[in-house]
Amino acid sequence: MTDKINSWNETTWVSPSNIALVKYWGKHGEQLPNNPSLSLTLKNSVTKTQLRYRKLEKPVPDSGDLKVAYWFDGQRNKAFERKVITYMGRLHTEMPYLQNFELEFRSTNTFPHSAGIASSASSMSAIALCLVDMEKQLGLRKPPTQDVFRRASFLARLGSGSACRSVYGGWVAWGEDGLLPDSSDRYASPLEQPVPGQWQNLRDAVLIVSSAHKKVSSTAGHGLMNNHPFAEGRYHQARKHLNCMMLALQNGDEKTFIEVVESEALSLHGLLMASSADGMLLKPNSLNIINAVRAFREKTGLMICFTLDAGPNVHLLFREEDKVLVRQFIQEELLSFCENNQWIDDQVGKGPYKVENE
Ligand code: PMV
Repeated sequence: MTDKINSWNETTWVSPSNIALVKYWGKHGEQLPNNPSLSLTLKNSVTKTQLRYRKLEKPVPDSGDLKVAYWFDGQRNKAFERKVITYMGRLHTEMPYLQNFELEFRSTNTFPHSAGIASSASSMSAIALCLVDMEKQLGLRKPPTQDVFRRASFLARLGSGSACRSVYGGWVAWGEDGLLPDSSDRYASPLEQPVPGQWQNLRDAVLIVSSAHKKVSSTAGHGLMNNHPFAEGRYHQARKHLNCMMLALQNGDEKTFIEVVESEALSLHGLLMASSADGMLLKPNSLNIINAVRAFREKTGLMICFTLDAGPNVHLLFREEDKVLVRQFIQEELLSFCENNQWIDDQVGKGPYKVENE
């Protein structure tokens, strides 16, 4: 064990991003959500992170002095490194032994930075999975945790709330709700009840309206919900939407699914716009896409709808069997609204995995 601890060891994880259909917006305490949320884990938009670690001769004196280096795309990224150190400082109670180690992270993303895909969800979940694996390799957790994914979800949440959902594939819920057995504000869990086949292979086309950095950081955005005049109504709406969504999934009710997904997206932006001048994140082309999608749905009767993250880019959700028609629609009618004709072709994925023998 001593040898194993003193020399360099490593673990590498690939973890995906996710898109929330019922949104988490507003938090309290240590990254605890003010309402439950439900998301789809993506397949192609992933972060791959390698962690190398070795024991220091002498522990660092304080959790603020952790010996951490972070490389992104082969370059040392000091700005993200500081975020990771702050995050790992927050893990002090859970992982006090981090002060005894030197840690090096090397990361790459498959998707462009700031492309409207939540890179914090994939990167923070990948880091948490690496840390939990390191803890397991070294036998540092006493008593050993039974469920490494639950622990990784719990730890990922402390880095970025939505990251806790990226630890699982498919449909994932986070936040306590009477409807969801075993649900918790502290970690996410995959939906217990199997989701009927028609919802399992949904596709997500992400239309890049703008890749510029957003004005409102996620932390500031959640902060806008404190004292927001619509806050209580919003938390009530989110619970109601979750309820309707669960029923719609079980009953194959596409109409309700579409209504809930689009209302969630627009409610998020409504809250943003009502709380700050910087909350106007939608661009004219976001609205052009939304209008075109609604007209296309009306004309074709296809199950297609849009959702939005806290930014101008539009996610289109549709069924696998309609992908040829929808791709044609994107090419012919939507690409002119996208920055440099950019879009990302993604779909529901199975969740993170460990890369063996790199
Ligand atoms: O995880 P955070 O703190 O970046 O917040 C994410 C919030 C939304 O992406 C807008 C919604 C969600 O549930 O993912």
